[in-house]
Amino acid sequence: MGPSVPCVSRSSDDIPSSRTWRRDTTPVMTTSKPVRDSGRPLEALIDIAALRRNYDILNARGGSAVCVAVVKSDGYGHGLQGVVEALPAARQFALATANELDRLRPETLSGRSVLILEGLFDLGEPERVSRLGFAVEWVIHSHWQLDMLESADMRSTVPIRVWVKINTGMNRLGFKPADILPVFRRLGQLKSSVLLLGIASHLACADTPEAVLNRQQFDCFDQTYDRLVRAGLDRICEEGRLRRSLLNSAGLLQFPERAHDQVRPGIAMYGALDSTLHQAHGLTPVMTLQTKLIAIQHVRAGDRVGYGGDYVATSDQCIGIVAAGYGDGYPRQVSTRGEVGGQPPYVLVDGEPCALVGRCSMDMLTVDLGSSATCRFSAGDHVELWGQRLPVDLVASWASTISYHLLTGVTQRVPRRYIDHIHKVNQGADEC
Ligand SMILES: Cc1ncc(COP(=O)(O)O)c(C=O)c1O
Repeated sequence: MGPSVPCVSRSSDDIPSSRTWRRDTTPVMTTSKPVRDSGRPLEALIDIAALRRNYDILNARGGSAVCVAVVKSDGYGHGLQGVVEALPAARQFALATANELDRLRPETLSGRSVLILEGLFDLGEPERVSRLGFAVEWVIHSHWQLDMLESADMRSTVPIRVWVKINTGMNRLGFKPADILPVFRRLGQLKSSVLLLGIASHLACADTPEAVLNRQQFDCFDQTYDRLVRAGLDRICEEGRLRRSLLNSAGLLQFPERAHDQVRPGIAMYGALDSTLHQAHGLTPVMTLQTKLIAIQHVRAGDRVGYGGDYVATSDQCIGIVAAGYGDGYPRQVSTRGEVGGQPPYVLVDGEPCALVGRCSMDMLTVDLGSSATCRFSAGDHVELWGQRLPVDLVASWASTISYHLLTGVTQRVPRRYIDHIHKVNQGADEC
């Protein structure tokens, strides 16, 4: 049986061509068209087929390495439960902390495991998650965690499966390479509770392949591995083998030869790392944040728009009122920064770029729909804020931030709607 998909649209026009959303192309003189059948029109459309395809591409790129699907921070804003259900091919998922497991139904994983990237925070965690029915591996990065494991030895009733994180140069988490032999020896003493799996590290500059730090981190990782093997400490690991885990999305795309035993892509799985790089690898966006025009204002030259009256109309023009604001996770800075690279930030109205004007407010954006004389838009028209046709990394660059920030920042009041063009499970379900 296929996976249970959280909510699957019934129709085949799930990612609507903006034409199909548009009901009328006559110049706007009225706002009486229905904007939505029920509820506010803003939604995050999650393309499960794209997610699966992206995962398969990344999995293939890692060769025989286990491809861990990184789903922390609520599946990078796509909805943890929905993302996990959509990926039956993934053998392992990664979260930042064990608390994030509370948002996941254990039966969804059915025999698959979860890697906890920040590791243990307290000794009750392994037993708690095991009681809930989760199979977990923990990344141990600091001496305080090691001390905690020693204090639990003999008492733990569940084996604690452990990856040891090495600080190879990012200087965020991880043991110093110089400390690695004593750390392994101490863990090796904890035979009753700890099962050692391997070493992990994280690249600071994977998205800049020419950065010197990449080479330094590779060398450091290799030397640490060699030192452990020379000391015979691979033999105290599970199956007498010291596993290695190093690459995130950018690392896997740029340095696949470093895949080793496990890779950990997150952002590329969501099709949101870098649109140019993605095109080269066939990765496509998973989330489309879409809404509609809910009103149109006809303003005169000299009229002001929005809070502070920042925008002053230069001629008679139509202003579109878009149902989305910073309260939904749209970055307010985009509307206050002005032009970026000679181009004003925009949204796609009925597929057409329309510049943001005035300040972004909590629930609404205002956009320039052009001259009142020729405006062809009407309330109810489809608006894409980012997604299939407007890359989220471009919108992020307008806000001087990164796509991760925008995706994880989509707030809980925005419904996620899961669509699947391949596996039409749950034919009866329509919208979430
Ligand atoms: C340790 C670790 N591995 C993997 C990832 C996934 O990174 P990305 O989303 O860039 O692929 C992250 C993300 O922050 C991480 O912290």
